[in-house]
Amino acid sequence: MTTPGSLDLRAVGKTYAVDGHPLTVLQDIDLRIEPGEFLAIVGASGCGKSTLLRLIIGLDDGYDGDILLDGHRITGPGLERGIVFQEHRLFPWLTVEENVGIGLEATAVPAAEKRRAIREHIALVGLSGFETAYPYQLSGGMAQRAAIARGLVNRPEILLLDEPLGALDSLTRAHLQDELLRIWTQENVTMLLVTHDVEEAVYLADRVVVMEPRPGRIRRVLPVDLPRPRNRATPAFAAVKETIIQELRR
Ligand SMILES: Nc1ncnc2c1ncn2[C@@H]1O[C@H](COP(=O)(O)OP(=O)(O)O)[C@@H](O)[C@H]1O
Ligand SMILES: [Mg+2]
Repeated sequence: MTTPGSLDLRAVGKTYAVDGHPLTVLQDIDLRIEPGEFLAIVGASGCGKSTLLRLIIGLDDGYDGDILLDGHRITGPGLERGIVFQEHRLFPWLTVEENVGIGLEATAVPAAEKRRAIREHIALVGLSGFETAYPYQLSGGMAQRAAIARGLVNRPEILLLDEPLGALDSLTRAHLQDELLRIWTQENVTMLLVTHDVEEAVYLADRVVVMEPRPGRIRRVLPVDLPRPRNRATPAFAAVKETIIQELRR
């Protein structure tokens, strides 16, 4: 038996054809993500982090090995997986509630239930009062909140986050890091966060996966055994951060 929200990557590899030559971007990725876990992945630009998330979200089934969600091989996109990107990717001609509701459109959920789910998730990310605002009327942080609400509106088992806070100023980023923790606790969702901010990874994650490039492989998986809420100013926090930075440089 597997519990909802578990993800098993078994010998996952991905090779692209570039100008007729094979380019192996991911190789031998073995990783199990536990239900309800907050896992962070760090690694140099180009080491295949976004490619890995694309495979998990089901946008590309031409890969080696197996990706199992609750024991079933992923063959395409599904409602049990939500995703948030670095850019909010909201439709500029749709309001916040319309953008958040996008994911519910193709589902058989009754209209009243959809409206309730949209309101609930807008409230969850702290955007109540902005339901009918358009993306251009939102700050960068608010737009990312809306994108997170859209990613969660189907109550996915796992939320994939591809550097979701990377484009925000440091104050907004710190604030949204706390919001992600609150949402994770409240929604009981498995979180898979790609970030190039080591401090962010240590602040948020249960475990940090360090990847290495060309081809993208897992170099090390480090547990973060610090009680939450974590204090960035403590020596224990600095020590974990330093270990990861050393791994990245190795
Ligand atoms: N569709 C594609 N075709 C060919 N190469 C690709 C494609 N997508 C990504 N790549 C290559 O795969 C590597 C990993 O990219 P990516 O997953 O975006 O890395 P990261 O997110 O870690 O920065 C890069 O070298 C990139 O150029
Ligand atoms: Mg990327």
